[in-house]
Amino acid sequence: MMQVYFLTPFPEMVTAVLSESILGRAVKKGVAAFHIKNLFDYADPPHYRIDDYPFGGGAGMILKPEPVFRAVDDIKNVVGDNTKLRVLFPTPDGELFSHENAVELSKESHLVFISGHYKGIDQRIRENLVTDEVSIGDFVLTGGELPGLIMLDAAIRLIPGVLNSYESAETDSFTEHLLDGPHYTRPEKYRGIGSPKVLLSGNHKKIEDWKKIQREEKTKIRRPDLWEKYKSLE
Ligand code: ADE
Repeated sequence: MMQVYFLTPFPEMVTAVLSESILGRAVKKGVAAFHIKNLFDYADPPHYRIDDYPFGGGAGMILKPEPVFRAVDDIKNVVGDNTKLRVLFPTPDGELFSHENAVELSKESHLVFISGHYKGIDQRIRENLVTDEVSIGDFVLTGGELPGLIMLDAAIRLIPGVLNSYESAETDSFTEHLLDGPHYTRPEKYRGIGSPKVLLSGNHKKIEDWKKIQREEKTKIRRPDLWEKYKSLE
């Protein structure tokens, strides 16, 4: 069972997402367990501050090292020193997250997400605790919860047994460096708009060939970068 730890100053943001839908089902199925840790629980009294002004000046506040180091100590005390922790810090200056990263994370036994909510986090956290600094795209969000949850969602759904039929992840966009193709269902004709005849032909070889061509054509037009990767592997 994958153990996932989420360190955040806003635990309710995370709880809501992790308890619903497929992620919630992953917990019920015993595939994953989520442990949400409130960073304020690891701050010092009497003020319980988790952020402070940056050394050297500048705009914005910085997440202090103590709450994060203590929370990670807490996790290590539970899992033991010999357990490898994958510690992810979502940040716009990280490496770009991709399907390959999701596949890799889905095979890990222990994931830790650290959510910052300030101008930045103390560099000592990044250099001494974090194993992966990851961005979900070239834009800036207000905190690490949403990007962390996005990465987690992408990884958890790939663990065998989480989706009802593992088949449904097999032709997702990005598998084999191709985008997903079009899908149709009943009724065959709706408001005068038909469905491709080949899909109703019963000829499996023809159907598979058609689906492949659809994925290839879409990828070629929308994502020339993926198309190059795909061509180089053929
Ligand atoms: N935190 C704020 N913006 C982010 C982004 N684009 N990716 C990951 N973490 C972030």
